[in-house]
Amino acid sequence: MQQVNLGMVGGGTVGGGVYEALQKNGPLMASRLNVGLNVARVAVKNPEKGRATRIPRSLLTADWREAVCDPDIHLVAELIGGTTIAREVVLTALKLGKPVVTANKALLSAHGEELFSAARKFGANLYYEASVAGGIPIIKALREGFVGNRITALHGIVNGTCNYILTRMKLEGADFASVLADAQKLGYAETPPDLDVDGHDAAHKTGILASLAHGFWVNPKKIHVEGIRNVTALDIQFAGELGYTIKLLGIVKKLQTGCSVQVSVYPALVPNAHVMASVNHAFNAVFVRGDIVGDALFYGRGAGKEATASAVLSDLGDAALDLKLGTKHRLPAFVPHDCSGRVAPIEEVVSQYFVRLNVTDRPGVLAQVATIFGKSNIGISSVIQPEGHEGKTVPLIFMLHYATHGAVAKALNQIGKLSAIKSRPVMIRVESFEQEQP
Ligand code: HSE
Repeated sequence: MQQVNLGMVGGGTVGGGVYEALQKNGPLMASRLNVGLNVARVAVKNPEKGRATRIPRSLLTADWREAVCDPDIHLVAELIGGTTIAREVVLTALKLGKPVVTANKALLSAHGEELFSAARKFGANLYYEASVAGGIPIIKALREGFVGNRITALHGIVNGTCNYILTRMKLEGADFASVLADAQKLGYAETPPDLDVDGHDAAHKTGILASLAHGFWVNPKKIHVEGIRNVTALDIQFAGELGYTIKLLGIVKKLQTGCSVQVSVYPALVPNAHVMASVNHAFNAVFVRGDIVGDALFYGRGAGKEATASAVLSDLGDAALDLKLGTKHRLPAFVPHDCSGRVAPIEEVVSQYFVRLNVTDRPGVLAQVATIFGKSNIGISSVIQPEGHEGKTVPLIFMLHYATHGAVAKALNQIGKLSAIKSRPVMIRVESFEQEQP
């Protein structure tokens, strides 16, 4: 059986997981694919250091170039993370015409355009299944499984840390800060947590999915990103009373007009009856709508050594088959679609909204707020002023019909200036997953 020599850059949690998974299931893969994967070199920072995964010393090197440039290496896996050395590793391998597998969403988000163009130019391919939603094979699904579909909408719970925090906030009625502190103690959240809780990790992944689904490179700067720091226990409680659960969603939606696509990350109210509301703790899920297939759901572990290794092994299998069959371009990275896309500015994006105001309880306040919404042509679908909130201020909750972000932001700005409004209005979008929007 033909053997493909693999050079791995990285022997930490991800690299170690891939090495272990290959030890366990490499022969099974070979029997299925009729090509074997042989780990020929593993580049690590310090070969002498003890590591969780035992890798034979003879394979280890401190020089990543040995795992990339040696002519006996056919295929390279970049598993170190970061965007500097990782970029150099990937570009060097591609320039040598070697297929590359990476798990690095930050690298793809920052340098994807350059890396995919290098892959095309030098006749190699770049595989990245592990970069989005860990063990869920969503890249392969979009690239191959749904090749016969236009993707009209995609909603992803793609950050396990945020989903874990929001789940616990809901179950315990607790505040963001206390759940975050506990999650950090338990190792579920990083310190500092910004990349996850401010939505950037989800934005990296959502941008990759959007690029793949719509066939143009999505500039990460064009993605509207809101994290979960401002989600309060009170919002979760009121959302619950209205029949919703708050989730951080990565959203990619084809708009009605032209080739505009919404690409955003923000917390949203999800109807409890929708399956995405039941994706709890650190699990990820991606809900895809195609114009032929309809709705499809992918659910699984979005992070962790084994889930990531599973995705990397899938890519290694594809790359090994490419080498065996001489089909390096069987799977083009991004296929241009029938019109060249554009990321719609958030101001143009239409949603429904949950708005929570903190108001002085006196006659005429509701009328003042309703007048501003009315003059802005924004419909109110329901209003709640809960009983039992004694004192000077009371929460006033509005559910709004479909409106553009621009119109709602402008109205809330005016509402925020009313003397009866005691703190900044809270606005959280509602995702109904309906087929058609106005
Ligand atoms: N930090 C990510 C998460 C996992 O919390 O989902 C790696 O992408």
